[in-house]
Amino acid sequence: MNTETFASIAALVKARSGIVLTPDKGYMLETRLAPLLKQAGIPSLDALALKLRDPRMESLAREVTEALTTNESSFFRDGKPFDHLKRLLPGLMAKRSPGHRLRIWSAACSTGQEAYSIAMILTELGIRNAEIFGTDLSREVVERARQGVFTQFEVQRGLPVQMLVKHFRQEAGKWRVQPSLQDMVRFEERNLLGEHRTLGRFDVIFCRNVLIYFDPQTKGRVLNALGAQLAPDGVMYLGGAETVLGLTERFTPIAGERGAYSLTAAPARMAL
Ligand SMILES: C[S@@+](CC[C@H](N)C(=O)[O-])C[C@H]1O[C@@H](n2cnc3c(N)ncnc32)[C@H](O)[C@@H]1O
Repeated sequence: MNTETFASIAALVKARSGIVLTPDKGYMLETRLAPLLKQAGIPSLDALALKLRDPRMESLAREVTEALTTNESSFFRDGKPFDHLKRLLPGLMAKRSPGHRLRIWSAACSTGQEAYSIAMILTELGIRNAEIFGTDLSREVVERARQGVFTQFEVQRGLPVQMLVKHFRQEAGKWRVQPSLQDMVRFEERNLLGEHRTLGRFDVIFCRNVLIYFDPQTKGRVLNALGAQLAPDGVMYLGGAETVLGLTERFTPIAGERGAYSLTAAPARMAL
C-alpha cells in the first residue's frame, strides 16, 4: 500500500466516523480490510482507494469505515459505572414525576452488552417504566445487539452466573437474552458525529470507550452534543481512559466516582 492510499482511506474513515488512524496502523488496515477486498473482488488497497474516490461508492465507503471500528465490549465492563448507576437511580427516580419513563442512552453500544447490563440493573431495581436506547455506527454490531445472542466466551466476561441464569436461555450452544430484558432495549444505527436533537432528553448517557478513537476537537464536539441531550440532573459515563478535561466545560467530574460526570452548573449570578 502506498502512503497516498493510507492517507486517503484514513481521511475517509475520519470524515465518516471521527476515528483517527495514525500511520502506524497500516498493518491494521491491511488485516481488517482483507476480507472486504476478497468479497468485493478488489485486488489491492491501492485499487480500493481509487474506487473510493468515486462518490457513487457510498456503500463501499460505509463498509470500509465499519471494518475499521473496534467493537470490543463486555457485560458490566469495568464494574464501577454500573455500581454508580445502581446507587444513582433510586434517588433520580424519586425526583421524577410518577409516570416518568426513565431514558438511558448507550451511545456506541457495539454488540449490546452495555445496554443489556443496564437493563439487568433496572430489573434488579424494579424499574419497569424505562427505555434503553442503544446506538452504534456499525450496522453489523447493531444487528447483533438486536438479536441478543451471545457466545459462551462473551457471557463469561463480566456477567455473574446468577444473572446469566436469570436473564438468558441456552440456544444452540449460545445464550439468548430473555424477552423481558430485550423488551426494555431498542437499538438503532446512529453516528455520534450526527445530529441528536430529535432524540429528546435522556436521564443517563453511557458513551464509553469510543472517544479514545477521536481527536480532541471531535471529542469536544461529541461531548457538547451529548450534553445537550442530558437532563440537567442526569449523569454521563465515560470509559476508564476517557475524560472531559481540556475538551469541554459542559461537564464536571462527579467527585470520587471515576468515569461519572454531571452537567456543569450555570454560574451563579453575581450580586451587584
Ligand atoms: C470499543 S466499542 C465500545 C462499546 C461499549 N460502549 C463498551 O464500552 O463496551 C466502540 C464502539 O464505537 C463505535 N463507534 C465508533 N465511531 C462511532 C461513531 N462516530 N458513532 C457511533 N459509534 C461509533 C464502534 O462501532 C464500536 O462499536
